[in-house]
Amino acid sequence: MCGITGFVGKNSIRNTMIGIKSLEYRGYDSAGIAFINNKKVEVLKEEGKIENLEKFINYDLDSLISIAHTRWATHGAANKINAHPHSAGKITLVHNGIIENYKELKNKYKDYKYKSETDTEVIAVLMNELYSEYKDMLKTLNKAIEILKGSYALAIINSDYPDTLYAIRKDSPLIVGVKDSDTMLASDVPAILHFTNKYYLLDNYDIVKVDSKGVRFYNDNKEITKRINIYDNSSDITSKNGYDHYMLKEINEEPSVFRNTLKEYINNNKIVNMFDISKYDEIEIVACGSAYHAGCLGKHYIEEYANIKTNVYYASEYRYTKHFYNSNILVIVISQSGETADTLAALKMANDNNVDTLGIVNVYKSSIAREAKHVIYTKAGIEISVATTKAYMAQSLTLLLLALNVKQDSSIIKELFKIPSILTKYINRTYKKIAKVIAKYNHIFYLGREIDYYLALEGSLKLKEISYIHSEAYPAGELKHGTISLMDTNTLVISVVTDDKIKEKTISNLKEVMARDTKVLSITNTSGDFYDYKVDIIENDSLTPFIVMIPMQLIAYEVARIKGYDIDKPRNLAKSVTVE
Ligand code: F6R
Repeated sequence: MCGITGFVGKNSIRNTMIGIKSLEYRGYDSAGIAFINNKKVEVLKEEGKIENLEKFINYDLDSLISIAHTRWATHGAANKINAHPHSAGKITLVHNGIIENYKELKNKYKDYKYKSETDTEVIAVLMNELYSEYKDMLKTLNKAIEILKGSYALAIINSDYPDTLYAIRKDSPLIVGVKDSDTMLASDVPAILHFTNKYYLLDNYDIVKVDSKGVRFYNDNKEITKRINIYDNSSDITSKNGYDHYMLKEINEEPSVFRNTLKEYINNNKIVNMFDISKYDEIEIVACGSAYHAGCLGKHYIEEYANIKTNVYYASEYRYTKHFYNSNILVIVISQSGETADTLAALKMANDNNVDTLGIVNVYKSSIAREAKHVIYTKAGIEISVATTKAYMAQSLTLLLLALNVKQDSSIIKELFKIPSILTKYINRTYKKIAKVIAKYNHIFYLGREIDYYLALEGSLKLKEISYIHSEAYPAGELKHGTISLMDTNTLVISVVTDDKIKEKTISNLKEVMARDTKVLSITNTSGDFYDYKVDIIENDSLTPFIVMIPMQLIAYEVARIKGYDIDKPRNLAKSVTVE
């Protein structure tokens, strides 16, 4: 949550701004920039998206140092005053993270006239105080690291050193891109790809000092050397590639994500190079949002094909429930960003209890990838749209392969290769007509049973998060125990009916709904009289869920489009949820 960039070198303002725009998926309620102009720090900030800020920026200004921020509000409303950068005395900084002891610090420096309600301004005040005592930035930053509690990635300018940029990090991501003698700081890789594909990853408590000579790293009062990373997936360059939205582009990439995953893990009709779960008696899957929904599919596949008891938990709940760990348990955490605070905390808890942990993560060397004892990287590539699509599919497929690695069922493995072209077929269909029907409703129930319910969970989340229509996923059989009282002509039911084992039961539940004059749209591979509208799914036994994902995602997309909402940046959301 929140994105930060910083640049030292030629065209600093332009580079910082290009970078921050590509991080807008991390937060988009206000934005700001600070830059050095004639050895003085200047700050500009605006409420709303970055385009509001851009109107005030002079890209031709000859500045060598700048820092920028795009915000997802935590402390204080989303307005211009609370927008970053924040300044106190000689210090100006941008922050991603949360300072847990900010109240304590605010109290300590209570004579300062605070302008904002943020936890970030307190950091600037603290650093300014420390700097007036030490007169040395490295000492100041070392002491600040000792004092600050919580998470932070900070890019810092001190007006006494108008040629130098500083940064520190703890539990919030920060990378340092380099090219010739220019240097760029950013929260995430997409922000630097226009400039370089070479970057350093920062570890907790690292201090970065950048000037025209280049970059230096310190940790624990000592200068350290770091290994350079090369980002070599040039196809990930973050443009929309002619699509109207990233979400649509990313849905269109799903067949190749599927293919790339198969290429990595299947050889001669056998699963290879896959983590072996067969030695565990029990598996706990922990994740949030869509990753949790992928985890539900994972439970189904692991129980079905690997015969291992599996439970799925919301990460935000997992930490506060009792666990009965033993050495035969594997905890799997799933995360696209690899930075989700709840998932990371659950992972740390499992590690602290000495159980084996496996991260299924999309972002290379993200916090979860670094913390997990074992890691599998999903092959989704960079995902920009806030509503996940291709990463969810990649997570689900990875979990299926994890399960099939135990059973090595050659007929299913063979079938997998047919899926990408079927996905393309479903991507090329139009869902506009059905979207028009859905867009008229204010209340939707997404129903299914067992694996169809797990899909319904994701269909419903996708629809509500980008179209703002109230939608709930419900196990179809549970409806009659209370919720059926909501069925009337103002409610629409969308049902997923594909699982042969249970579909007759679901159909009975849908009949009960239709008897209450509620219209039903079924996403199904079956014909019958249990729907008013139908999205036809071809038969493909155990792999049908992957086919269902496409219409569910495209239906949500088309409804949001009819409503005219900002599909890639839905209100109140951010892609990387680094707060609890
Ligand atoms: C929904 C969505 C979220 C994420 C959730 C977990 O479209 O994207 O529900 O799935 O916030 O995020 P990661 O996977 O980054 O841990």
